[in-house]
Amino acid sequence: MKYDIADLALAKEGKRRILWAENDMPVLAAIRERFARTKPLKGLNISACLHVTAETANLMRALKAGGANAVLCASNPLSTQDDVAASLVKDFKIAVFAICGENRATYYKHINAAIDHKPVITFDDGADLVNELHTRRRKEAGRIIASMEETTTGVIRLRAMASNGQLKFPVIAVNDAATKHLFDNRYGTGQSTVDGIIRATDFLMAGKKVVVAGYGWCGRGFAMRARGMGAIVIVTEVDAVKALEAAMDGFEVMPMLQAARVGDLFVTLTGNKHVIRAEHFKVMKDRAVVANSGHFNVEIDIPALKRLSKKVNRSVRKNVDEYLLKNGRRIYLLAEGRLINLAAAEGHPACVMDMSFSTQALQVEWVVKNRDKLRAEVYDVPAEVEDWVSRLKLKSMSISIDKLTPEQIEYLATSGEGT
Ligand SMILES: NC(=O)c1ccc[n+]([C@@H]2O[C@H](COP(=O)([O-])OP(=O)(O)OC[C@H]3O[C@@H](n4cnc5c(N)ncnc54)[C@H](O)[C@@H]3O)[C@@H](O)[C@H]2O)c1
Repeated sequence: MKYDIADLALAKEGKRRILWAENDMPVLAAIRERFARTKPLKGLNISACLHVTAETANLMRALKAGGANAVLCASNPLSTQDDVAASLVKDFKIAVFAICGENRATYYKHINAAIDHKPVITFDDGADLVNELHTRRRKEAGRIIASMEETTTGVIRLRAMASNGQLKFPVIAVNDAATKHLFDNRYGTGQSTVDGIIRATDFLMAGKKVVVAGYGWCGRGFAMRARGMGAIVIVTEVDAVKALEAAMDGFEVMPMLQAARVGDLFVTLTGNKHVIRAEHFKVMKDRAVVANSGHFNVEIDIPALKRLSKKVNRSVRKNVDEYLLKNGRRIYLLAEGRLINLAAAEGHPACVMDMSFSTQALQVEWVVKNRDKLRAEVYDVPAEVEDWVSRLKLKSMSISIDKLTPEQIEYLATSGEGT
């Protein structure tokens, strides 16, 4: 088996962490057990470009139990958990191409190794693998039955490709499933972003002015958590409805230029580019901390920050770079502007990834069953998959809910009764 990882000797710790995560992923474990019996993915080559974490390892195990020949590469150069990669190779015989801290060339070499596996189904977190299949490796695109997209930024890229007529195979917008973004983006990113910032800096939230750029699913989650820890949270937005929602949720809302003057900590969660840029850095307080939890490392204009600096002290603490500005102030950039929750912490807790990855696993099975009906479009996850995942998750939490009575079903289906 070909693979490229940091160190096979890390496997023991990786296995411990994979099995620990499994405890909190009961829905995915149930799917894996069923897949092992029914083999819905028998003989299919699958290449996944996802964050290489203990939770992803459990998704890979489920795919393998279903009969797939699955390989994994990283969807971010800094998010790979090297011990997990080692255990996947050694203990679970799943090939991995990912090394934490890999440079851009190695990152793409690894994506290409995953394409060399000749996949018929792919997974992405940010559409980098699909993009490769539409550019440098486009001859391979004809073989793809479908691709699963895990994050908001990826879905935006893929919808743009579909509307330009460029998309060459069907894609499932797994991110857009309620069982994914309602929980993963909001509670997963919310909590793990706090976790990453604290691990990187030992920052005290209480009493600090925390500026949250973007009040979408991830931004809401992080703003909620930061407030819960006693921070004074300021939200910046470009969407009037989201801004109004943030204001009515009780947050201060203002433009970034105004927030930049008062913030102690800035976190971008927009999926957009250069949300914090030169004009903002220039007015920030001494020792302001800047981090990103959106998909790509372009939300913070790092080249502009470099241009404004007379010196950069790398790694003044792990995952913290100190930029000494020409105006004499210091700005601390966390994790080189990459996803702070994955670079400095462990990504989302397993409990929430149980829903995202159960949705992914069931969706693959659905794709295989419906392969002849699919066209080169972006598809939503069908309601039955979401309902199944939610019901099993509730059961695993010992929560039961009511059922509609026949009278209620009839009432909801007719318009006869009024005042
Ligand atoms: N860190 C993680 O683990 C993780 C997990 C899930 C998603 N993501 C990524 O986080 C990003 C946000 O995802 P989401 O699901 O919250 O998306 P979303 O579309 O729900 O929210 C993004 C928000 O940012 C706002 N925005 C855009 N440009 C802005 C600007 N210049 N200033 C202020 N606000 C701006 C938009 O109006 C929108 O409300 C995406 O890149 C997504 O891929 C990261």
